[in-house]
Amino acid sequence: MRLKRLSLLNFKNLSQTDIALSEGINCFVGDNGAGKTNVLDAIYYLSMSKSAFTMTDGQSIRHGEEFFFTEGTYSTDGGVQEQVVCSFSRRTGKVLKRNGKEYDRVADHVGLFPVVIVSPRDTDLITDAAEERRRYLNGFISQLDRVYLNSIMRYNAVLTERNRFLKGSSDEAMLQIYDMQLAEHGTRVYEARQKMVERMQPMVAEYYRTLSDDREQVEIEYRSELQDMPMQDVLLRARERDIVNQFTTAGVHRDDLVFRIGGYPLRKYGSQGQQKSFLIALKLAQYRLLAEATGEKPILLLDDLFDKLDMGRVEQLLTIVSHDDFGQICITDCNKVRLESTLARAEKEYALFTVEGGDIGR
Ligand SMILES: Nc1ncnc2c1ncn2[C@@H]1O[C@H](COP(=O)(O)OP(=O)(O)O)[C@@H](O)[C@H]1O
Ligand SMILES: [Mg+2]
Repeated sequence: MRLKRLSLLNFKNLSQTDIALSEGINCFVGDNGAGKTNVLDAIYYLSMSKSAFTMTDGQSIRHGEEFFFTEGTYSTDGGVQEQVVCSFSRRTGKVLKRNGKEYDRVADHVGLFPVVIVSPRDTDLITDAAEERRRYLNGFISQLDRVYLNSIMRYNAVLTERNRFLKGSSDEAMLQIYDMQLAEHGTRVYEARQKMVERMQPMVAEYYRTLSDDREQVEIEYRSELQDMPMQDVLLRARERDIVNQFTTAGVHRDDLVFRIGGYPLRKYGSQGQQKSFLIALKLAQYRLLAEATGEKPILLLDDLFDKLDMGRVEQLLTIVSHDDFGQICITDCNKVRLESTLARAEKEYALFTVEGGDIGR
């Protein structure tokens, strides 16, 4: 999948812009606060119909404005042209269209225009609570598995209802009904997560070895209460506790991922550069799995390329993504000279854009 044209109006600090992109590497260079990350986020938004960073759509509207508008013209790897328009207005909400036609459900869009973003904020995945890692896993698996997206949405809906019910009642017959529904969706969520992490693990380890020039070993482990017993039993065993606490204390909404380096927790024992390398390896594995599942090479967004990486690792990364397995790439950096001299060694055509005060020039 390649983005050929990008038009934006009032998206964060980008007032109005219309650019033609290269099919190879696109570099956005500018000072801190210029709007480079916002350009990548706009591209992410068009694919996922939500920001990679902000929690609400309203936060992506330029201050003092009423709406934003984003439009992308794509070409699939098979050469088919596609147009996506996404706008959000404070008054009337979100409109998402593909080739002029509005979707019945926004969720139908997810996965059609695959994208992977690598950004300094990925470190939240290591430092934050389990919820952040589940959010990541959900977003990622949803892009390549419609059934999963549906299961997780339904699981969360039943969970919300069950929790509301527990606030005012402990009727076991009713809980039994909730549990059956939770078990049905939860088991699917569990199986999909289990399968995905299993496939991902060797890829992450391999990319990490390449990035670190074979210096360190990393691992990912999936942890779920469903590994010990079926979801029905998990719920049954926790029922008394749920009634006392008045919310659902067990289930796949408590799953987690454990990251290790050399056998020890990455969060405590990994240096900043090692953590960053791990996150890149994770995202590259995600890229490969997405490419396999959708049959399209996702668009790869590399925000602040040099952030916390030594030159050796940056070059390894560029060598990996210059390979034919990877497609279009968008990179940001604040240093034009550094970026240009590094890219001159990558074997891919590239375009350079300068970003300044919310304006993009070529
Ligand atoms: N909704 C918004 N309206 C206007 N400006 C915004 C909005 N959201 C973020 N910004 C501004 O965008 C700028 C940051 O842009 P960003 O893309 O992160 O910069 P960088 O080039 O360093 O990556 C900040 O000045 C921030 O105040
Ligand atoms: Mg930035």
